[in-house]
Amino acid sequence: MTKIKIFDTTLRDGEQTPGVNLNVMEKLEIARHLERLRVDRIEAGFPASSEGDFQAVKTIADTIKDTSVIALARTVQKDIDIAWEALKGAEEPAIHVFLATSPIHMKYKLNMTPEEVIETSVNMVKYAKQRFPIVEWSAEDATRSDWDFLVEIVEKVITAGANVINLPDTVGYTMPEEYGNMFKYIRERVSNIDKVALSCHCHDDLGMAVANSLAAIQNGVTQVEGTINGIGERAGNAALEEIAVALKIRSDYYPYHTDLKLDEIKRTSDLIAKFTGIAVQPNKAVIGRNAYAHESGIHQDGVLKNTLTYEIITPELVGVNSNSIVLGKHSGRHAFKEKVNELGFTLSDEKLNVAFKQFKQLTDRKKEVSDDDITAILMEITTNTHQIKKYELEMFQIQYGTGTANIPTATVSIKRPDEQVVQTACTGNGSVEALYKAIDALIIEDTKLLDYQISSIGGGKDALAVSTVQLDVNGDTFNGRGTASDVLEASANAYINAVNRYLIKKSTEEKAPATI
Ligand code: KIV
Ligand code: ZN
Repeated sequence: MTKIKIFDTTLRDGEQTPGVNLNVMEKLEIARHLERLRVDRIEAGFPASSEGDFQAVKTIADTIKDTSVIALARTVQKDIDIAWEALKGAEEPAIHVFLATSPIHMKYKLNMTPEEVIETSVNMVKYAKQRFPIVEWSAEDATRSDWDFLVEIVEKVITAGANVINLPDTVGYTMPEEYGNMFKYIRERVSNIDKVALSCHCHDDLGMAVANSLAAIQNGVTQVEGTINGIGERAGNAALEEIAVALKIRSDYYPYHTDLKLDEIKRTSDLIAKFTGIAVQPNKAVIGRNAYAHESGIHQDGVLKNTLTYEIITPELVGVNSNSIVLGKHSGRHAFKEKVNELGFTLSDEKLNVAFKQFKQLTDRKKEVSDDDITAILMEITTNTHQIKKYELEMFQIQYGTGTANIPTATVSIKRPDEQVVQTACTGNGSVEALYKAIDALIIEDTKLLDYQISSIGGGKDALAVSTVQLDVNGDTFNGRGTASDVLEASANAYINAVNRYLIKKSTEEKAPATI
């Protein structure tokens, strides 16, 4: 069985999803979960793109030691220098440089001739190789490139020292057989191809990303790039959990394996969905809420007689409903700490105390506290590590009643980043509108609500409410998330969270640019 390396780009390509703005501590927490999931490589960001990305890559490279950390750079010296500054503390510094090879990209985007694209790629791979033991080179938009041109450039880039060659389907255009054939064509014609590992990287514009990745694997690719939950720009990237589980379930058909710890998939997927504010669709393969639910009578009957009748993947395989300790009112600090570790979070003693206090407060309201509830507490604490002044909800009150005589009214009091406490009241067609109008009136930034969703964590009448919003804040898009026992409080928290994410991003970007 050939090993297929899993290259996770959730923190780089996945973060390019509109509205996703993860801060450094959130990225670190995701990286820790990816390490636990045992991906082979974590693409932690694009250090030259912003100070925030630089800090995130550096923090992850300095902390994560069991998984290789890689970062993206354009084929320009400055990007490679900045990437080196961010990655030099990594166990095995690795860089991913890319340049487009398709006629349309070379002509209209790069304004470069094919010869210039070859020369730049070769020079920058050589430059990167002076410092980085691992250099991956990507032919952006490979699937719309001329295959003979790919043969020529790939051969030269390998001679220049590249260790990994990635041929991405950047715009999600290719079909499985065609993509597989492209790798076959390259392997058969590039004379030094056996010196490198081949990598695939697929986008899902035509819904083919996973199928294309599997076709690439059947044609000699030993590294597959993608994201958890398939998040990413436009229709997203190939969902890594789907590829890994397909290889496992159909090992009779595919003589390949990954080292992914499959029962960590659900936990990692949940954390990423929560931090990014991008919920997993209920019918999503492998990790969707309905993936293991059987609705029709005939199916239920079959599953009751023998689960194999309609269930090809057991929920346990991917960590759904795995037996874990349920905590409640009488659980002590020790059990709570165990749970925090089990959920994959690493907290200092000080933060553990804060989390434990919040957990105890929750047990006053809920008999059984689920993993989801605890994750919600831990995520708030992880996010709140930034030492910047933010907006805080001091109090709010809603007046709502049915009938035309009752006009929904919200009174809100907020502490602004300058510590000033301000208060106002607004009316609306409903409680949420009144609440959001009042918050909006108190917030200095220019905000516009783009999307609003409400759901619950776990089941039961006492379930926590979770609200996710997408806001335009001063012209940039931010997702926000809030949890509370009450839906309106969760909604208020989500709105304020999105604005605070803007403040965190602004403060990171106002710092001096990366020194090199
Ligand atoms: O999709 C793509 O081509 C990319 C490259 C930067 C590898 O993400
Ligand atoms: Zn991509």
